[in-house]
Amino acid sequence: MTGKTKILTVFGTRPEAIKLFPLIHALERDPRFDSVVCVSAQHRAMLDQVLAIAEIVPDHDLDLMTPGQSLDALTARALVGVGGVLDRERPDWVVVQGDTTTVMAGALAAYYRQIPVCHVEAGLRSGDIHHPWPEEVNRKVVGSFAALHCAPTRTAADALLAENVDPANVHVTGNTVIDALQWVTAKIEREPGLAAGLGELERRFAGKRIIGMTSHRRENFGEGMRGIADAVKRIAARPDVAIIFPVHLNPNVREVMNAELAGLDNVALIEPLDYPHFARLLAISDLMLSDSGGVQEEAPALGKPVLVMRETTERPEGVAAGTARLVGTDPDRIVAEVEALLDDPTAYVAMARAHNPFGDGKAAERIVELLAG
Ligand code: UD1
Ligand code: UDP
Repeated sequence: MTGKTKILTVFGTRPEAIKLFPLIHALERDPRFDSVVCVSAQHRAMLDQVLAIAEIVPDHDLDLMTPGQSLDALTARALVGVGGVLDRERPDWVVVQGDTTTVMAGALAAYYRQIPVCHVEAGLRSGDIHHPWPEEVNRKVVGSFAALHCAPTRTAADALLAENVDPANVHVTGNTVIDALQWVTAKIEREPGLAAGLGELERRFAGKRIIGMTSHRRENFGEGMRGIADAVKRIAARPDVAIIFPVHLNPNVREVMNAELAGLDNVALIEPLDYPHFARLLAISDLMLSDSGGVQEEAPALGKPVLVMRETTERPEGVAAGTARLVGTDPDRIVAEVEALLDDPTAYVAMARAHNPFGDGKAAERIVELLAG
């Protein structure tokens, strides 16, 4: 017996790793805790990029990813895999973050053993179970039994209270993505070489307006993705614009984007960037075009307008602050919104203001104190 509180942190994808490394770092330096890390490796290469930069070596690596994995097979394997680790480690708490399959299955495995679950980034709701899909339901499942709900904002906390979650278990902590962004920004300042890999593209596109782009949402597969690709082609016809697009490794994304966009002069289709390079892309972009969750939080924090290629968002704070705008996946709408921002300086300035509705960089500290009880 160490007398320490044993925390098992479970995650599997790039965004979970980014948003959990500040908490893992804080737990590791706090003598009150024994921190154990389990990765499902629902993602492989994209997870490993984050583990490397954050210098996290997992205690357990389930290595689950298979090419083109299905939701049900992944869920089943994550449930059984995390369950086995829980039986060996017998932690006091299981920590999960966000809304992926790993989050839902990992939390459920803990619930089956009556181990309390701490849900980081709790309470985000779009109100539509098909957007984001399947994340809205994953988040609700965990929210229905978590013992500690770390809501990033008041809006998220209120959504939990509206679902009759015990107010004593709901806390507004801020979003750890801001902690992560501040950490990586400081690291790049100390070691600029960490983000220097975009240099060649920066030289090639000097003088152009840079649009940083990401796209991977499951509910956009098919027609939505083709709409997005069509919009990018039309925007790229402008000589004053360049699009830098690190393409997600999901084959459903890559097939469409490579088929539609390869070979265009001012579109750079590149491999997923590690976090320092993505932070650099955010810094050099005039605007972001994205359907990602995390980018909707990072862009407002940096004052970068973000056009969100979704019909709804579970992160309304960026829209309310004026830095994010929902534009859907209809190519006419995307092109019109991008052109308005590029051609109307007043519209641009109105959106390009730094807002921090998502946190102050101290979310991990607050969560640690909540876990200490
Ligand atoms: C997953 C999450 C989504 C999250 C996204 C972040 C679910 C259901 N989806 O979506 O909520 O927003 O991660 O990026 O949990 N692949 C690789 N290498 C990698 C990662 C993915 O090759 O490092 C390929 C594999 O073929 C894999 C496929 O992408 O089977 C899909 O990965 P998966 O995690 O199931 O879905 P994502 O679309 O990445
Ligand atoms: N990101 C990254 N490299 C990339 C694209 C994104 O490091 O090439 C980071 C980004 O800064 C954000 C997170 O990954 O923190 C978002 O992940 P993703 O879009 O995969 O998932 P989502 O946030 O939509 O769940």
